Amino acid sequence: MRRILVTGGAGYIGSHTIVELQQAGYEVVVIDNLDNSSKVSLERVEKITGRRVAFYQVDIRDREGLSKALTEHPCDACIHFAGLKAVGESVEKPWEYYENNIGGTLTLLDVLRKHNCKNIIFSSSATVYGDPVEIPITEQCPKGQCTNPYGWTKSMLEQIMMDMQKADPEWNIVLLRYFNPIGAHPSGTMGEDPNGIPNNLMPYITQVAIGKRKELGVFGNDYDTPDGTGVRDYIHVVDLARGHVCALKAIDRKCGLAIYNLGTGHGYSVLDVVKAFEKANGVKVPYSIKPRRAGDIATCYSDPSKAERELGWKAIYGIEEMCRDSWHWQSQNPNGYKDN
Ligand code: NAD
Ligand code: UD1
Repeated sequence: MRRILVTGGAGYIGSHTIVELQQAGYEVVVIDNLDNSSKVSLERVEKITGRRVAFYQVDIRDREGLSKALTEHPCDACIHFAGLKAVGESVEKPWEYYENNIGGTLTLLDVLRKHNCKNIIFSSSATVYGDPVEIPITEQCPKGQCTNPYGWTKSMLEQIMMDMQKADPEWNIVLLRYFNPIGAHPSGTMGEDPNGIPNNLMPYITQVAIGKRKELGVFGNDYDTPDGTGVRDYIHVVDLARGHVCALKAIDRKCGLAIYNLGTGHGYSVLDVVKAFEKANGVKVPYSIKPRRAGDIATCYSDPSKAERELGWKAIYGIEEMCRDSWHWQSQNPNGYKDN
């Protein structure tokens, strides 16, 4: 397998994955409508790897655009990151989320099969487990009730792809359920660049640390967890990116349908992350306790052993490196890619 189509490749996880793909010797073709990203991320990729990225500014709902890209650059597999991902916004605009994420993926799947590229790795999320019935969460854990339309798009798309694979066993489909990706490329030149007020914990912390926001609001300290704050399985984005390169192995050996958790297996509370960040970087992160956020659960962390067993993949970075690299990126690029 040589050439990989990467949808959403200009985004946070996509851009880090392209670095790992190119460094592993793959050729990469990127499709992104730049709705939530900047082309500068791809220039940074090229700087790190010294290799060119073929880029099409195309929407995954644009059948002709997709077809043109695949005709000019036939691909062996697709890694599908493209999608809208803001949980709160998905509650306000459910139609837009279903249309973009589900409509877009249906078009993509159809164009892929017409181009005889029936190999796909899909960005799913631990959100499909809902409030999980077991901790740590294995892939055997039943899926649960999502609390927002974004989560449902992931859950429904998993089902759609499973049904397609059952009907046509030529498809090889890998569903990767990410836990909480944070961190940035150790070079400090690539990272997460959220628009507006960050919804997620780490970008909020880095913006407080750099003085853009006054303090972190900790959403609840009365959960049934060791310190009362929410516990999550944070994973370094470079480890997550490498997980995609390893997942290509499953496709190589014609896996049919395969599902993997990508996490570290360790749970950290909100206050653990604040402390780890302060210690790793020698900066203060003022915070205050706020009410619980709607839809949040107490604890969510993975059992990632299936990916280790079957893909030979394991996260190597710990919380210190995640905090160090998030800060390295934020402090060197206070406005993300926007100054470029
Ligand atoms: P991101 O927003 O940085 O990247 C997504 C990219 O897709 C963006 O570059 C955006 O411009 C592009 N895009 C969106 N709609 C498109 C469309 N219709 N056509 C073409 N391009 C389109 O997000 P990310 O954090 O890199 O996430 C990548 C994938 O991983 C998403 O599917 C997301 O739902 C999933 N995921 C992310 C997380 C997380 O915490 N970041 C967790 C679980 C799953
Ligand atoms: C959220 C989404 C999930 C999505 C993931 C990645 C919800 C309910 N879930 O996961 O679907 O896949 O992001 O985009 O939104 N926290 C604070 N203060 C903040 C921000 C967060 O205390 O300002 C806490 C949260 O309550 C939680 C933890 O930090 O306990 C992590 O939050 P976050 O980074 O938003 O991720 P998730 O909620 O796990």
